[in-house]
Amino acid sequence: MKLLVTGGAGFIGSNFIRYTLGKYQDVTVINFDKLTYAGNLDNLADVRNNPKYSFVKGDITDESAVNKVVTDHKIEVIVNFAAETHVDRSIHSGNRDFVLTNTLGVQTVLDVARQNKVNAMVQVSTDEVYGSLELESKDAFSEDTPLAPNMPYAAAKAGGDMLARAAFKTYGTDVRVTHCSNNYGPYQFPEKLIPFFIFKALKNEPLPLYGDGKNVRDWIYVLDHCAAIDAVLRQGQAGEVYNIGVNNELSNLEIAKIILAELSKPESLLTFVDDRPGHDRRYAINSSKIEHTLGWHPQYQFEQAIKETIRWYQENTEWVKKLELRRAEMNPHLS
Ligand SMILES: NC(=O)c1ccc[n+]([C@@H]2O[C@H](COP(=O)([O-])OP(=O)(O)OC[C@H]3O[C@@H](n4cnc5c(N)ncnc54)[C@H](O)[C@@H]3O)[C@@H](O)[C@H]2O)c1
Repeated sequence: MKLLVTGGAGFIGSNFIRYTLGKYQDVTVINFDKLTYAGNLDNLADVRNNPKYSFVKGDITDESAVNKVVTDHKIEVIVNFAAETHVDRSIHSGNRDFVLTNTLGVQTVLDVARQNKVNAMVQVSTDEVYGSLELESKDAFSEDTPLAPNMPYAAAKAGGDMLARAAFKTYGTDVRVTHCSNNYGPYQFPEKLIPFFIFKALKNEPLPLYGDGKNVRDWIYVLDHCAAIDAVLRQGQAGEVYNIGVNNELSNLEIAKIILAELSKPESLLTFVDDRPGHDRRYAINSSKIEHTLGWHPQYQFEQAIKETIRWYQENTEWVKKLELRRAEMNPHLS
């Protein structure tokens, strides 16, 4: 199988490439990434010399570049991770790049996939496209929940989802869309909540919580997400949407307390700051479709996986040091 992974130098894409190369003998992976501030080839240092892996620098909004990589490498399937992903940037630094990559970029990959008769494409999306749930309710997003994005990032991702749907309905393009909840694990850019809090705690700096800290997300270990995408790619159906979650609802405050406890740091480091505009209260996922139709089930327990994640950031000091330098240059907002 000749697989094009777009956005493979980011957090989830790099984990997915490592997962795929480790699991299958008969796959060749081409990583096509623009290397924005979030793209980091150090994430793939251990597979760099694997003969089944190669990297091509490029932008998914550039149709001729996408077309070239697909034809040069006789690509059979595509997984599109490439995106602008930081919600706070979409709010505070303008949404233009988000619309370009997360919406126009998806259209470009869909067009190239159709023109080259690519067998299948997975559009990796997010539960944030569904909007917000009440904190007290037991509701969860299903594949039939209408899209109702509240933030610029989520709206741009929803645009990509709609275009994927339209490509299937109009042209019969084989594209499948996934909506996953919040990921944690190694190689995540430290503007995102969990590594951000780990680094703050390690430096004995305050952990800033938006509003009352009670916003809830369903936290999934990144390798469970990778296995779900793999199942959708290999067994999913054209035009279908698959929601991915693990029923692991935790508030930002709970996450912060877990990190402090694991690092033996005092809760006096918790600080409450002004809430983020349009901050969704709660996300929850009903993942019964992917579990029943594709047989995917999460394999990682949060209690263990979060400990290993914290340890990974403590142990990978070189990776962290390089990123710290980049972060300092960019002065990112909170996740
Ligand atoms: N992180 C999460 O919790 C989460 C949850 C659900 C879905 N997702 C989705 O998963 C995907 C990957 O997320 P992530 O957290 O790994 O993001 P990330 O920000 O770590 O990585 C994004 C990657 O895309 C690349 N990229 C950006 N614009 C590009 C362009 N125009 N052309 C080519 N490459 C480009 C970047 O260089 C980077 O390597 C995204 O589509 C995101 O919406 C993320």
